[in-house]
Amino acid sequence: MNCSRRISESLYWVGVNDRQIALFENVYPVPGGVSYNSYVLMDEKCALFDTADAAFTHPFMENLEGVLQGRNLDYLIVNHMEPDHCASIADVVRRYPEVTVLCTAKASNMMKQFFDFDVNACIQTVKEGDTLSLGRHQLTFVMAPMVHWPEVMVTYETTEKILFSADAFGSFGAINGNLFADEISYKEEWLKEARRYYTNIVGKYGPQVQALLKKAAGLDIQMICPLHSHVWRKDIPWLLEKYQAWSSYQAEDPSVVIAYGSVYGHTEQAADLLAAKLAERGVKGIAVYDVSKTHPSYIIADAFRCQALVLASITYNNGIFCNMENLIHQLAAHNLQNRTIAVIENGSWAPVSGKHMRECLSAMKNNTILDEAFTIRSSMKEDQAASLDALADALSASLKA
Ligand code: FEO
Repeated sequence: MNCSRRISESLYWVGVNDRQIALFENVYPVPGGVSYNSYVLMDEKCALFDTADAAFTHPFMENLEGVLQGRNLDYLIVNHMEPDHCASIADVVRRYPEVTVLCTAKASNMMKQFFDFDVNACIQTVKEGDTLSLGRHQLTFVMAPMVHWPEVMVTYETTEKILFSADAFGSFGAINGNLFADEISYKEEWLKEARRYYTNIVGKYGPQVQALLKKAAGLDIQMICPLHSHVWRKDIPWLLEKYQAWSSYQAEDPSVVIAYGSVYGHTEQAADLLAAKLAERGVKGIAVYDVSKTHPSYIIADAFRCQALVLASITYNNGIFCNMENLIHQLAAHNLQNRTIAVIENGSWAPVSGKHMRECLSAMKNNTILDEAFTIRSSMKEDQAASLDALADALSASLKA
């Protein structure tokens, strides 16, 4: 069954939706599924942009064949070699043996690593600024290393002014009928998942995303076709602004995310009290998470959104609570910067989690760790309210600064 979608007179979406997947990259929960986007541009020559995950080769090929309707496929442009997009390359080459595969030299090497077909027989490597004419449509290849792998490029089409952006500008979440971002409540409903996708998948590579944004600034982009989620044809400056903030590690909101690791509820109580005190000081959009209940990817996304971060942990095995330790490791791995961070520790006989958290956080770049210490011994007492007030004051002052 051909389930392709027409985007413009010449451009078609031939991707697939995956709602069976539980964990993207076997790590990130995707309750709304994910889409693997692929596009076909029909001209004097026909070009396919990337393929699909191995589990969906069959419906993807049906879409592709449905659009081509017996025409030959002249080019396969491989912007990214991660298997959620490249896994069906061998099937495309087998079905269209005349096809020329265009990709970077690094992608060519990866293709030989992933596949056993004769890559050299069909490959043509491209570099920055190389062009390809399909007839009315002209393609220019733009290198985008580490957005999200080293072999990545994006492709700009100059006639319709389309950017085929690889992983950039995508999101978690399957496409539910509405193919275009302007057909859904993107800013209200979808932004959270777009942020969680960006920060967790590409967040570590801010400087490389900045480099791509600089190149994009020199292009007249009327449409963005990413490898996941919706196609953009309106409000592109808004999306670029979000990417500008995320990739430069600038907070979107003067707000606070509080993550706590608590076993019997006493550390949770301190986190809740602090959140209330922050709200009383006018802080809006506060987020509070239990690190044992919430996957780190959600907390990382809010840590990128908020200006300040509070980590509250019990002492566990003479160290940090295991799930909090994992969160801190993930925050460091994703290169979070330019944040104000406070720690709260709890310990019934030897509270040391605060010291250990500070040590881990100090290794991260360009963050300010507040001196205000807050230690709970088993449970909070009334006479500690002033100390928690001082912490709330310091945090809200940092937001105003
Ligand atoms: Fe969607 Fe980096 O692959």
